[in-house]
Amino acid sequence: MTDAAANDAPAVRLAGVRLDRGGRTILSGIDLAVPRGSITAVLGPSGSGKSTLLAALTGELAPAAGTVEVLGQPVPRRQRELLALRKGIGVLLQGNGLLTDLTAAENIALPLRTHTRLPREVIDRLVEMKLHAVGLRAAADLYPRELSGGMARRVALARAIALDPPLMVYDEPLTGLDPIASGVIMNLVSELNDRLGLTSIIVTHHVHETLPIADRAVVIANGRIVFSGTPDELQASDDPLLRQFLRGEPDGPIAFDSAPRAEVA
Ligand SMILES: Nc1ncnc2c1ncn2[C@@H]1O[C@H](COP(=O)(O)OP(=O)(O)O)[C@@H](O)[C@H]1O
Ligand SMILES: [Mg+2]
Repeated sequence: MTDAAANDAPAVRLAGVRLDRGGRTILSGIDLAVPRGSITAVLGPSGSGKSTLLAALTGELAPAAGTVEVLGQPVPRRQRELLALRKGIGVLLQGNGLLTDLTAAENIALPLRTHTRLPREVIDRLVEMKLHAVGLRAAADLYPRELSGGMARRVALARAIALDPPLMVYDEPLTGLDPIASGVIMNLVSELNDRLGLTSIIVTHHVHETLPIADRAVVIANGRIVFSGTPDELQASDDPLLRQFLRGEPDGPIAFDSAPRAEVA
């Protein structure tokens, strides 16, 4: 593929993908194209396979069938090439993953220290910019235990964008946050996507908080994609399965067999 073709390609493309875990098929027949610059919400009940889908994008889980392309290239299998691709993917996990004995600024500097040879002053300046981008310049020298849940999530977000990845993936970014902090995070996700020209994929069961900032919505349930379209189309759908999911009802066409699982914060 030429560079031009790679740049025109969707940020993420899955074709005929099947994902197995522990000898069990979790998702199958997955076709998905995520246009560059867009925010895509991947919705579904707990245990439906959302995190499994993300694992396929980061190369953590190889598909049992089909093809997964990220940033215009098939997700490589060789470790070295995989690490190169992963530098282009910013990941925010629900646990934040901040190191407790490092300050906010030091946490954000970590990927820059590990993956670049930039001089100290440049890294300091970049860290300052990332903190500014998430509205936390004043928190540079605070340790994670000194941060509220929402602030800690923002520091983790600043670290995820430290290397200026063109693609951001969020796994349950609102877990453990109150409604106000949730609103702040969703606004940031949207703002960063637009200002930095990113592509964002948000995997979540928080439908009503996420749809307002999404350009596209995908719903997975019962091992497959059951909806793909705009948030308005999703809201307007009279499909009983989608209605059940949007209203969060336990009984209906979606088998919520693993639904009320305790969440790890
Ligand atoms: N490492 C694993 N080994 C075996 N089964 C797994 C593994 N990770 C997840 N699963 C199973 O895959 C299904 C989908 O899980 P997951 O992708 O975490 O769902 P979601 O993120 O939508 O809550 C669940 O039934 C879960 O138990
Ligand atoms: Mg999950």
